[in-house]
Amino acid sequence: MEQLDLAIELARAAGDVLKHYMGRDKQIEFKGRANLVTVADKESEALIIRGIRERYPTHAILAEESGASGGEAGAEGKWIIDPLDGTTNFAHQYPFFCVSIGFERAGEILCGAVYDPCRDEMFSGARGLGSFMNGQRLYVSETDKLANALLLTGFPYGVRHKMKMAMSQFEAFLFESQGVRRGGSAALDICYIALGRCDGFWEMDLHPWDTAAGLVILEEAGGRVTDFGEGPFSVYGKQIVASNGKIHEEMVSVLRNLQG
Ligand code: IPD
Ligand code: CA
Ligand code: CA
Repeated sequence: MEQLDLAIELARAAGDVLKHYMGRDKQIEFKGRANLVTVADKESEALIIRGIRERYPTHAILAEESGASGGEAGAEGKWIIDPLDGTTNFAHQYPFFCVSIGFERAGEILCGAVYDPCRDEMFSGARGLGSFMNGQRLYVSETDKLANALLLTGFPYGVRHKMKMAMSQFEAFLFESQGVRRGGSAALDICYIALGRCDGFWEMDLHPWDTAAGLVILEEAGGRVTDFGEGPFSVYGKQIVASNGKIHEEMVSVLRNLQG
């Protein structure tokens, strides 16, 4: 699929940009980390948008830093971009961040690529064609009980205003599962479920660029994605429960009990 090839090519190139700035981190950290992040975010995003515009000048773009652009009436596609997912990690040189590029047509995410430049791991997936990590076909884990599951989650930047709910979810899952990790990159979290490294993920208040590429990668690996009430997931919605499918109902019921 040509859009997937482009997403992979641009995610890799943008990942190289992030790595370049990560190498200079020490020097710049003393001057103020925020600058570094801003430069890395923006350069990564500019590179991706340039690449898309060259190939698909009429397509719409939704990118975290520059927002919505392009997209003539009847445009045949929309690209959803997080040029650096895991900003806080990046700023601290904690090697868990990525570039995420998803492609949507007629309201459906058709393909996407997520690239972790620190591990040189390229996750990719396209509807009906499966998903892969560096060429290896992805399948979700076989874990079928929440009690045996390793879970992932994240906290939104506005967590201070939702501390009670966030903590009660965290506490409940910690109690019910084998462990919970907070990695700091939602896009990579979702790909780790696709790879079978972990079994389930939940988070509130995410954005389309955090989930678009991961969604197709995980579903093509046999995973399941819904909102907290087991209703259909939309990248434009806020809540996500993503799992290997086998522990999905148990995860949803933990969340339902809390809302209860
Ligand atoms: C954040 C990461 C993090 C998640 C936050 C996101 P950013 O994205 O994905 O894991 O918990 O909700 O905003 O700001 O690093 O691109
Ligand atoms: Ca993000
Ligand atoms: Ca980001």
